[in-house]
Amino acid sequence: MILVREIDPADLALFDEWYDAFRAGAVAGRKAALVAGRETLGYSLRNPSPLKQRIAVGAFEDDRVLGGMLFEYRLTDNLDTVEVDIDVPAEHRRRGIGTALWQWAATRSAQLGRTIVQAELGVPCEPWAGAAFAERLGFQVEHVEEHLVVPLPYDDLRLDELRESVGRLDGYQLTSWAGVCPPEHQQAYADLHTAMDLDVPTGGMTRELVPWTVDKLEASEARIDRNYLALVTMAHTLDGRPAGYTLLYLPRADAEHAQQDDTLVLREHRGHKLGTHLKLANLEQLAKHRTTQRYLHTWTALSNAPMRKVNARFGFRPVEEHRELELRLPRLRPAARAVIVDEDERILLVRFEFDDGPLWATPGGGLEPGETVVEGLRRELVEEVGLRDFTDPPHLWHQEVVAEGHATGYDGVLNDYFLIRTAAFDPAGTLSAAELRAENVHAMKWWTRSELAAHKGRFAPRDLPALIDRLLTAGPPTTPTQLAL
Ligand SMILES: CC(C)(COP(=O)(O)OP(=O)(O)OC[C@H]1O[C@@H](n2cnc3c(N)ncnc32)[C@H](O)[C@@H]1OP(=O)(O)O)[C@@H](O)C(=O)NCCC(=O)NCCS
Repeated sequence: MILVREIDPADLALFDEWYDAFRAGAVAGRKAALVAGRETLGYSLRNPSPLKQRIAVGAFEDDRVLGGMLFEYRLTDNLDTVEVDIDVPAEHRRRGIGTALWQWAATRSAQLGRTIVQAELGVPCEPWAGAAFAERLGFQVEHVEEHLVVPLPYDDLRLDELRESVGRLDGYQLTSWAGVCPPEHQQAYADLHTAMDLDVPTGGMTRELVPWTVDKLEASEARIDRNYLALVTMAHTLDGRPAGYTLLYLPRADAEHAQQDDTLVLREHRGHKLGTHLKLANLEQLAKHRTTQRYLHTWTALSNAPMRKVNARFGFRPVEEHRELELRLPRLRPAARAVIVDEDERILLVRFEFDDGPLWATPGGGLEPGETVVEGLRRELVEEVGLRDFTDPPHLWHQEVVAEGHATGYDGVLNDYFLIRTAAFDPAGTLSAAELRAENVHAMKWWTRSELAAHKGRFAPRDLPALIDRLLTAGPPTTPTQLAL
C-alpha cells in the first residue's frame, strides 16, 4: 500500500531518504541531468522564502520512500500557478506511484484554488517515460529549449581563438564580480533582470512578470549566495548606461556541475558581439576561481538562433531537450470522504436530499483552507458521525468530477476516499440534526453488501456497490484508484 505525504525537511534522516529517491528518479537514464544538490534543496526547504512555498512530498510503502515530488507555488505573484516535479526511481516505476503523487498535487492545487500546473522535463531520447506520463495526464508542451554542456576547465586555446575572432570591444566597458552585486550596480542589475524576464522566450507558458527592484534583488541574491557562487559580468556604455550582463553559478556543494544562467544584451546594443565579449570575460573569471566543476551547463530556446550560434562557438554541445509543460485544471472543490466498514462488513452511508432526489454517499466533506486531507477527514467525521479513532487510513479512491451543479462556484468536485475499519457505532457527531439538514444530510444507515446491491436509488460514487464488493473481496488497491462520477 502506497501512502503519499509531506516530508518534514527538519527530519534529516527522512529528508535524506526522500532526496535519494527523488534524485535517483530524476537522473535515471540521463547522462547530463542537473538536479539541485542535497544541501541546496535541504536548505531551501528548511528556510522557506517569503516569496515561494516549496513542499517535499514522498510516496511511502512500509515507511520506505519509493518516489518523490517537489510541489511549489509563488506567494506574491503567479497566484493561479503551481509547479510540480515528480520523480520515481527506475525500479519502482509503472506501479502507479507517479500517479499517486500526481493525485496529491491535484488535491493540493484544488485546495489552494490554483488551476495552472507547470512542469519541466529533461528528455535525452525518445520514447521517454516522463514525456509519456505527462502526456497521459494532459500536459501540453509549451516551450522547448536545448540543454547544452561544455567540459571544464574551459579550453584556454578556444578562449584565445574566440578573443581573436571577436577583436576589441569598442564603445563599452565590462565590469565583473563574484558573489552578490556591488551596491553601485544594483539598480542597473535589477533593471537588466526585468529586461531579461521580458525578453527571454518562454513559448506558451503562463507567467505574470513582476519588475525587479533593488530590495527583491538583494533578497534573492542573499538566498542564492548561501548555496551558489555567482559570477557576473555586466556591460555599460562609456557614459555609464547598462547594456547587458551574463551570469554563471557555481553550486557550492556540487563538485561536478556549473551553470551558465542568463545572458542578455539589450536590443539597442545588439550586433556588436557584446554577448560573446560578456561570456569571454565571465569565463576568464571562472578560470581565476579554479573550480572543481567538470561541466558547464546552459539552456537556449530552440527558436533563439543568435544565442545558439554563440553557444556553438563556445563549444557547447546539446545533450537533452528541455521541455516546459503546462496543464490547465478545472476549478474543483476538494473533499475528504471515508468508507467506514464495521466488523460485519457493513458500510456507513449518509443520505443527502437534493432538488433532484435523494442520494446515499460516504461521510465526509469539503476541506477547509490550510488543512491536510486527513485533517479534513478527521474534522468532518467528528462533526458528522462522531468517529474519532483511526490512524493512517488507506487511500482508496481519487475522484474528479467535472460537471455543473455539484458545488456552487466550482467546475466540479474532487473527492479523496479513505478506508476506516471500526466496530459498529451509532453515528452521532457534534453537528445537530438541524445543522446536518442545512447541509442536506437527512439520515444515516449501515448497509450490508446485499442491501447495497438491491438498492435502486442513487449512490455517490455511482457504482459504489461494485466498488465496495471489490474492496471487500480484493482488499484496498496499492495506489488510489482514479474514479469518474
Ligand atoms: C514519469 C515518472 C514520474 C512516472 O512514474 P511511475 O511511477 O512509473 O508512473 P505511473 O506508474 O503512475 O504511470 C502512469 C501512466 O503514465 C504512463 N507512463 C509512465 N511511464 C511510461 C513509459 N515508460 N512508457 C509509456 N507510458 C508511461 C502510462 O500511461 C502509465 O500508466 P500505465 O502504467 O497504466 O500504462 C517516472 O518515469 C520518472 O520519475 N521519470 C523521470 C522524471 C520525470 O520525467 N518526471 C516527470 C516530470 S513531472
